[in-house]
Amino acid sequence: MNPVMCVVGARPNFIKMAPLLRAMASHRPALPTVLVHTGQHYGNGMSDQLFETLALREPDVNLQVGSGSHALQTAEVMRRFDPLIDSYKPSCLTVVGDVNSTLACALVAAKRGVPIAHVESGLRSRDRTMPEEINRILTDQVSDRLYTTERAAITNLLREGISQKRIVFAGNVMIDSVAHSLSRACSALETLNKHGVEASFLDDPQGYGVVTLHRPSNVDDATALRHCLGVLGEVAARIPLVFIMHPRTQESITRFALEPLLAAMPVAVLPPQGYLEMLGLLARARMVLTDSGGLQEETTILGVPCLTLRENTERPITVEQGTNTLVGSDRDAILKAVDAVLRGRSKRGRIPELWDGHAAERIAADMYHWLHTQSRESHPS
Ligand code: UD1
Repeated sequence: MNPVMCVVGARPNFIKMAPLLRAMASHRPALPTVLVHTGQHYGNGMSDQLFETLALREPDVNLQVGSGSHALQTAEVMRRFDPLIDSYKPSCLTVVGDVNSTLACALVAAKRGVPIAHVESGLRSRDRTMPEEINRILTDQVSDRLYTTERAAITNLLREGISQKRIVFAGNVMIDSVAHSLSRACSALETLNKHGVEASFLDDPQGYGVVTLHRPSNVDDATALRHCLGVLGEVAARIPLVFIMHPRTQESITRFALEPLLAAMPVAVLPPQGYLEMLGLLARARMVLTDSGGLQEETTILGVPCLTLRENTERPITVEQGTNTLVGSDRDAILKAVDAVLRGRSKRGRIPELWDGHAAERIAADMYHWLHTQSRESHPS
């Protein structure tokens, strides 16, 4: 069997691909794989350390595309990825999530006649100003096997004309990673101490909140970012905050000269964290304030209240069944939600269907049968 070509590019992809590679290797018979890293995220904090803690094997190929505008990044991934189809003759391409690398490689494979499996398909925010929404819609349109994490995703795909026969409700590989790693999570205390945060921080009777922000709508615009930081300053007066700073956000803070504002806030700022450090910080947090997609899911499984600083979510199950509340960017709505958590009036949430730590195994099993059916159809005996 020719290899399954698996692509990762940015941080959330690494977390989703790790359980898939393990499941493909342990499926009997095993599915051979080639791992391609586009290099969209790079360096120790954003890439290398995650490979290490997730026990992701060294990529067979690193395309080293680095950062750039969406057009440049997407085009460069396509240009560098295309020759790999000739070198490896993959039986299929497996892409995860919704980053630029996901769409770029899917487009190449579609035009080269390589079947595509998309893991985490069908999620829709219905907000086309989000680059990820464009990536999701287009990747799903060219995919042949679509693995979904929640039932709403199936409805979205059917509405876009995708045949039911191509859709598989498999569960959430992001949760597989949490299940696999939680017992090895680093102590929050040690992580904070390592970054010079006083131990008394964790003794605060309120606990602490974790903050991450990186969506262009919150951080690429000076007014929006200043507003977010202002509100976070008010939240920090109620509960100590640990702000884990994405490089995109750090760059904007520097560019808009917002460092003095941040420095004046009672907030502990940490650089991007490894996966086990992040899990440890999240698991002990009283609440999480974020605009990340992955954190909305991770907090649901950990039972930690999540306040999402966005107007919409492509992951509605985290709101309907999990611990997620959409608070947008409105100051009063955010402070009201924070106060509700502090008064013990947060959602308890429950674990969504098939978020059981075994999604990757279901996907590997389905993929094996799908690929075999395909090869029988193209080479009838
Ligand atoms: C990307 C994904 C987003 C995902 C996020 C997770 C797209 C469109 N966006 O956003 O969906 O939630 O990853 O982190 O694919 N940078 C570094 N080092 C790096 C990577 C980036 O310093 O290793 C800086 C660069 O200045 C770069 C900026 O961050 O220009 C943005 O990086 P990019 O990969 O374009 O998008 P993210 O904001 O990370």
